Amino acid sequence: MVNNSYRQSYDILLSVLRDKTYLHILMKSNTSKHVAKIVFGVMDKYYELDYIIDNLADKKPKLNIKIILMIAGYSILYLETPINVVLNNIHEFLADIGKTGVKSFLDALIRKMDNREFSLPNKSNKHYLEVRYNMPSFLVGLYRKDYPDTFEQIIDVPKLNRVHIRANCDDSLILNADETAIKTLTGYYVNNNKEIAMLSLMGQITYMGYASTLVAESIKVTKDMRILDTCSAPGGKAVMLASKGAKVIACDIHNHRIELITDYAKRMNTKLHKIYQIDATEYVERWDSWFDVVLVDAPCSGLGVINKKKDVVHNRTYEDILSLASLQQDILQNAKNYVKKGGLLVYSTCTVFSIENQNNIAKFLETNKDFTLEKIELPFENNGEIQFLPDGKGMEGFYICHLKRN
Ligand SMILES: C[S@@+](CC[C@H](N)C(=O)[O-])C[C@H]1O[C@@H](n2cnc3c(N)ncnc32)[C@H](O)[C@@H]1O
Repeated sequence: MVNNSYRQSYDILLSVLRDKTYLHILMKSNTSKHVAKIVFGVMDKYYELDYIIDNLADKKPKLNIKIILMIAGYSILYLETPINVVLNNIHEFLADIGKTGVKSFLDALIRKMDNREFSLPNKSNKHYLEVRYNMPSFLVGLYRKDYPDTFEQIIDVPKLNRVHIRANCDDSLILNADETAIKTLTGYYVNNNKEIAMLSLMGQITYMGYASTLVAESIKVTKDMRILDTCSAPGGKAVMLASKGAKVIACDIHNHRIELITDYAKRMNTKLHKIYQIDATEYVERWDSWFDVVLVDAPCSGLGVINKKKDVVHNRTYEDILSLASLQQDILQNAKNYVKKGGLLVYSTCTVFSIENQNNIAKFLETNKDFTLEKIELPFENNGEIQFLPDGKGMEGFYICHLKRN
């Protein structure tokens, strides 16, 4: 039984670490609690386990062998599984996948882990921050570059048990579902209990991060205002804007994500004007200077919400972030064409890095003299840009910028 858990955990971890498959796609509703514990546990302690294995092994093991060692190491060090149980499971598992040739190598390493024949890096070790914050050192470096004095607070922000929701119903329904609900400008922080989940299924509420709702809230919608949402799926902001009376055209590049927008608008009983599958870097002539507001809620590194995305943190490379910044610039340079004179180009990301946010906007403004930063009408001090940082009280890392076309 436990052995089967090892096999399933191994398959999931191999898919995440070798093929870069998203963890949430691999975790099925029938995945056992034990498997989930091992998979999330290994992802949570990836750099620590990696460091320990590197220290104990004479040469770096291949990824598949490393994953087996990580499962064994996590079971011993964090689940307190007795060594003989771990070894039995590993032996059966190796027989199952036809890899008994590495048995003695693995046995020796697993026993060393059990005997704690390793030490973790101290502050002067170059791997210290990587292990402490469980993320690649280039990422720690990016946080440190933008937030030299506070980067550790930002990375290490405590996880909040509450979730943020936007309501499509009377406040009393929410307070009945959770009497401890805390009101925000756009919704509530609630405990995600069964009643709240039921309201979501019925389209009475929707789960939406607070900062994410503030993007839509920052746009002062008037009736029938024309809004183009260039990167729309799953549709959170498009549907929120449409619910305020705007005529929203929602687009996304991915066909399978277009369905998410359709389903979401239906569940929330909100009408979107049109939905198109389209690449936001491609020019559409009929939209030229047509919209009051164009929203670019760009694809980004997503590192404003690191607590939620262990696999994203692990699988990101510096080259990914550079290429995202360049895609964001290309989308902006195309989307600007659709804004009418006096209209707004709104740019947002769920990340905290200047290369994707402030630097991208500065670069855009250099070549687009007809656009200027426009103060955002939200109760947060700004000159057209707001960088929200994760605060442990529910705010996620998020960037919002308003650019007016003059
Ligand atoms: C941050 S998500 C958008 C979230 C959405 N605005 C919401 O509030 O629910 C970014 C979206 O951009 C889409 N995307 C990525 N590249 C794109 C492109 N070149 N053109 C249009 N959409 C793109 C992705 O498929 C993804 O759905």
